[in-house]
Amino acid sequence: MRTLHSVKRLSGEITVPGDKSISHRAVMFGSLAKGVTLVKGFLNSADCLSTMDCFQRLGVSIARDPKGPGTLLIHGAGMHGLTARGDEICRLDTGNSGTTTRIMSGILAPQPFASLLSGDDSVNSRPMRRVMDPLTQMGADITSVRGNGCAPLLIKGRPLTGITYHSPVASAQVKSAILCAGLYADGITTVYEPAKSRDHTERMLRAFGADIEEPGSFGVRIHPADELRTPGEITVPGDISSAAYYIAAASIVPGSEVLIRGVGINPTRDGILRAARAMGADITEVSRDDTGAEPIADLLVRTASLHGTVIEGSIIPTMIDELPAVCVMAAAAEGETIIRDAHELRVKESDRIEAMTNGLRSMGCAIIGTDDGFVIHGGAPLHGAPIACCKDHRIAMSFAVASLIADGETVLDDESCVRISYPGFFDDLESLVKE
Ligand code: S3P
Repeated sequence: MRTLHSVKRLSGEITVPGDKSISHRAVMFGSLAKGVTLVKGFLNSADCLSTMDCFQRLGVSIARDPKGPGTLLIHGAGMHGLTARGDEICRLDTGNSGTTTRIMSGILAPQPFASLLSGDDSVNSRPMRRVMDPLTQMGADITSVRGNGCAPLLIKGRPLTGITYHSPVASAQVKSAILCAGLYADGITTVYEPAKSRDHTERMLRAFGADIEEPGSFGVRIHPADELRTPGEITVPGDISSAAYYIAAASIVPGSEVLIRGVGINPTRDGILRAARAMGADITEVSRDDTGAEPIADLLVRTASLHGTVIEGSIIPTMIDELPAVCVMAAAAEGETIIRDAHELRVKESDRIEAMTNGLRSMGCAIIGTDDGFVIHGGAPLHGAPIACCKDHRIAMSFAVASLIADGETVLDDESCVRISYPGFFDDLESLVKE
């Protein structure tokens, strides 16, 4: 439990921890490559450690923090070097991580051994047919042990063939699972999405020497590979999903000015910047670096008087994880904000439409949860309330932001879930609070 109060203003600099999506992929591709990969800026959070743990169980040697905090040294096993270490079925615990569960299923499907992927109650109730269906079309033998389309997933490794797949959802996890399987397949694999999801897999696989093309704006094609070659070093940028809490907080707390350093601003992830600016947010890119595989910037955020907007369509996948923080901005904004086309929020670590609607309503916000989003009439003062975080890191951090402008006490029922993506969140937020 954590009790939070409003603050006078926020000011100072913050460096957000490494990007979660990119940290997962650095472990995965570093493990599958031949040679040694040094990862810098790795996110030491529960989700990314779940991925690391899975690959260690599969026989990959990974040293944590050998060259300072946030470094990993991965001695890649090569694409054909993973092992079940003599177990009949290799059991892998994916914790709370949907990314680990889904992308690993694509990596494990073509291996010459059987594995069982299982996570916590939340992961084991999230939809997995979205990866089971395309992988099965490729020839995979993958079953939901309880027959409900969720993990635990039993995967009996088999040779795969390339397919062309039209995904019904814009999901980087689904796309990445198929692309990873495609590396091992006989023939070319192409995935088309209804809108472009984050492209970190494509960028990183290219850096590891994979042959990837992009037919049309929403398609990705991969050629089978014999091996991946390590680029030697990978630098993980700061996570824009973590930066989103400071973008929201500095925008809504009067008199604030916060510099967020080293934020990854990949165009498939920057919807939060576009949506916040459409609401009147004052965000300046004070420096920008386009030289690496992922673009990075320092962002200066100042308080602004926000107004409502409509957020819908193809911007949604580029800010899906930031929508809870945007709901808090919308609660503080004058007028109506409408968020549509975000059904995916219902199947994240919690039902985020329900969690945000219940919590913000109890704080005095006029909010309606719809099937695929929200209608929020902002501008009314917020008051503190007991908040159910639903064991969901993004819900806990969003309500911590809301508490900064709420009268009285905001009480988070269990804030420990922030360890999933941002273990130091409360200390970092506290460091910006000024009298
Ligand atoms: C992720 C993709 C997104 C996102 C998740 C991380 C990834 O999920 O919500 O936090 O690293 O590929 P979907 O693929 O389900 O959209």
